[in-house]
Amino acid sequence: MSKQTYLTGITTTGTPHLGNYVGAIRPAIAASKSADNESFYFLADYHALIKSQDPAKVRQSRTEIAAAWLALGLDTNKATFYRQSDIPEIPELTWMLTCMTAKGLMNRAHAYKGVVQENIDAGSSDPDKGITMGLFSYPILMAADILMFKSTRVPVGKDQVQHLEMTRDIAQRFNHHFGDHLVIPEVVVDEDGALLAGLDGRKMSKSYNNTIPLFGTSKQLRKSIMKIKTNSQEPGEPKATENNTVFELFCAFGSNDEIAQLREDYAAGIGWGDAKQRLYEVIEAILAEPREKYNDLMANPADIEQVLQDGAKKARAVSAPYMAQLRKAVGLST
Ligand code: TRP
Repeated sequence: MSKQTYLTGITTTGTPHLGNYVGAIRPAIAASKSADNESFYFLADYHALIKSQDPAKVRQSRTEIAAAWLALGLDTNKATFYRQSDIPEIPELTWMLTCMTAKGLMNRAHAYKGVVQENIDAGSSDPDKGITMGLFSYPILMAADILMFKSTRVPVGKDQVQHLEMTRDIAQRFNHHFGDHLVIPEVVVDEDGALLAGLDGRKMSKSYNNTIPLFGTSKQLRKSIMKIKTNSQEPGEPKATENNTVFELFCAFGSNDEIAQLREDYAAGIGWGDAKQRLYEVIEAILAEPREKYNDLMANPADIEQVLQDGAKKARAVSAPYMAQLRKAVGLST
């Protein structure tokens, strides 16, 4: 396989949860360990401004998500790990791409259309009520994130696939006008991550308020797990593993042997309390050590800041010269 450039980002709103870990952080760290790959992972804090107008929360979330990546073992000597807002070339590229993006393409974006539909359903006279240009043109900012580092592989959840198609569209149009400067990326959909269920059985997501935080105390973790919705079957009744949130979560963390064992125990009628206890134990075994690292990092934010500053330097060593090339291509410099 030829060398690939992996890139992914997490929007810095809210506290990192198990879905972020299984869907984004864990596969990204695994990919970064392969010598064949180059990887760029970043904190999407410009994206956070689309959803949050609370400066303290944006700052806090950014620190927590950075600490989570580091505590879970991201090797920042291998991967380039940075904060989007430290890379001024990203908003510059965003503008160039904005001028290459058909408005009609953005009209079709799910994120935008979803809010329009909510407004219509609520009987509002203005379908664009509460919609900023930030939300409307968010896929262009995301395209700039991806194209800035010549990414070839972008691992994302299913909900982001359309944004990758738009990125490819925009890049092709740019290349058609200005020459072959941009690299056309491929999407990598992480099926496990897309399936990771939250407390209520729907996809684990900040927007559904059904998340299990990654780095609460072990007591909080246990308490969250005990809250997972189950049916009213009694201990002793055989239980189905299909569409069962406890079992699905267990599959994302347990070894194959542990999963096989739990499957047998479901058939033999394990009680929900016991099944949840097993889930707690398997997650706790994985998170106990990173949790300590996480707490250390959160107690020393200057260390996190240093890592991010170093990451920004590395990232800009790529983005600055590339931007100079793109400025020439569009006629802004000679
Ligand atoms: N929009 C993504 C999300 O909400 C986060 C993101 C921003 C991203 N820029 C990106 C993901 C670039 C992959 C590549 O999940």
